[in-house]
Amino acid sequence: MAKTQRVLTGITTTGTPHLGNYVGAIRPAIAASRQDGVESFFFLADYHALIKCTDPDRIERSRLEIAASWLAAGLDPARVTFYRQSDIPETTELNWLLTCVTAKGQMNRAHAYKASVDANEAAGEEPDAGVTMGLYCYPILMAADILLFNAHRVPVGRDQVQHIEMARDVAQRFNHVFGAGRDLFVLPEAEIEDSVATLPGLDGRKMSKSYDNTVPLFEGGPKALKDAIARIVTDSRLPGEPKDPDNAHLVTIHDAFASDAVKAAFHADLRAGLGWGDAKQRVVDLIEAHVGPMRARYAELMAHPEQIEEVLQAGAAKARAVATPLLTELRQAVGLRRMVAVQQPKAAAAQHAKAALPVFKQYRESDNQFYFKLADAHGALLLQSQGFVEGREAGGWVKRFKTEGAAALDGAPVTLAEGVDRAAVEAALAALVAAQE
Ligand code: TRP
Repeated sequence: MAKTQRVLTGITTTGTPHLGNYVGAIRPAIAASRQDGVESFFFLADYHALIKCTDPDRIERSRLEIAASWLAAGLDPARVTFYRQSDIPETTELNWLLTCVTAKGQMNRAHAYKASVDANEAAGEEPDAGVTMGLYCYPILMAADILLFNAHRVPVGRDQVQHIEMARDVAQRFNHVFGAGRDLFVLPEAEIEDSVATLPGLDGRKMSKSYDNTVPLFEGGPKALKDAIARIVTDSRLPGEPKDPDNAHLVTIHDAFASDAVKAAFHADLRAGLGWGDAKQRVVDLIEAHVGPMRARYAELMAHPEQIEEVLQAGAAKARAVATPLLTELRQAVGLRRMVAVQQPKAAAAQHAKAALPVFKQYRESDNQFYFKLADAHGALLLQSQGFVEGREAGGWVKRFKTEGAAALDGAPVTLAEGVDRAAVEAALAALVAAQE
C-alpha cells in the first residue's frame, strides 16, 4: 500500500462563511478528506487572525462560526484532525526555530508585505507604516503550521502559493543546517484546486467579503438566502424572452449545487424563456435543499459551543501527539538538549545517528490510562498501544519491544497506525534492538 499522504490546510478565522467559501474551500476539502490514503489536518488559524483583527469579540465569534460551519458541512472529526492553531504551543516554538534560519530579505519579498509597502508609498507614507511584525513574519508562522505536521500537500488559493514555496525553502534550509544528512522536514507542495470554480458573487465578481457581494452560508436563515439571491444582477430580458445560460452568473451559482440533469433542464428552460424571477426561486429552492439540513445542525452547534469546544480539544490532543515528538527531535537537533557531559566532536556523528532512531513514547491520557506509541525518526506514528490501567504494564511492553523487536508484535495490545505497513514497523523495531546492543 502506498504511504499515506498528509494533507493540511488552515482557515483564517476572520469573518463569517459565505457560499463562496463553501463551494471553493469547505466542500472540496471535506470531500478530499473522505478519500482513502489521505490523512487530513484542518485547523482554525486563529494566531493568523490576530494579525488582521484586534477586536477580541470578533475573533471569538468568527472562530465559533467557522468551526460550527465546517462541522455542520460534514467534516468528520473522527477521520480528520481538526484543531485550533492556538491550542498547539509547539506551533509558536517551531515558529521561533524557523525564524532563526529565515532570511530577512526573503520576508521583504512576501506579497502581502510588499502590497502594504506599495500602498504606503502610493499614499506618501513611511513604507512600513502600519506594518506589524506579525504581518511581516506571517509566512514563517504559516511554515511552522505546515512543517510541524510534515504535511505533503497543502490545498490553498493562488494567493497563498508563495507562502508554501517559502515554507519549502525554510524546510530545506533547516534540513541542511541541522539535519546532519537526514530530512527533519518533509518539503510541502501547494495544491491548487483548479477544478473547483470560484463562485461569482451578487455582482458577478468573485464572491468575497471585501467586495460586499456575498450570499451567507448559514447565518440569517432561509430569509437571508432568499434576499441575497433576489439581489443577484441579471440582464433585463423579460419572461418569455430566450436567455443565455452561459452568460449569467445566477446560472453559475445554480450549477455549483445542481446535478447534470438539473443543470440541463435549467439551461433549457432559460433558453425557452423562463423569467428571471422564477429562475431565482429555483436557485433558492435548490440551495436551500442542500444547505437547509446543514443549517439546522449549525444552529444546534452554535447553541452548544461546549460541544464544539470538546471536539477541538480532542483534535488538539491528536495533533499534539504528532507535534510533541517532532519538537523533541528538533530541540535535540538544534542543540537545546539535556545537560550531559559535552561530547568530543568525533562522537557527535554517533550522536546524530542515535537521534535518527525511532522512539517509543509513554504517556497518560485524560481517561487516566497509560499508553505508549512508537514514532519514526521524523515523528510519524507507527504503532499505538491500547490503554493500560498500570503504567508498568505499558513500560513492560516497551521493554519487550526494545529487546525482542518484531518478535513481540504478534498478539501484542497494539495497532499499526493508519496507512503504515507492518514491514516498516518491523524495520523500526529492528533498528531499536540493534541500538541496544
Ligand atoms: N494564510 C492562509 C489563508 O489566509 C491560512 C493559513 C494559515 C494556512 N496557516 C496555514 C493555510 C497553513 C495552509 C497552511 O488562507
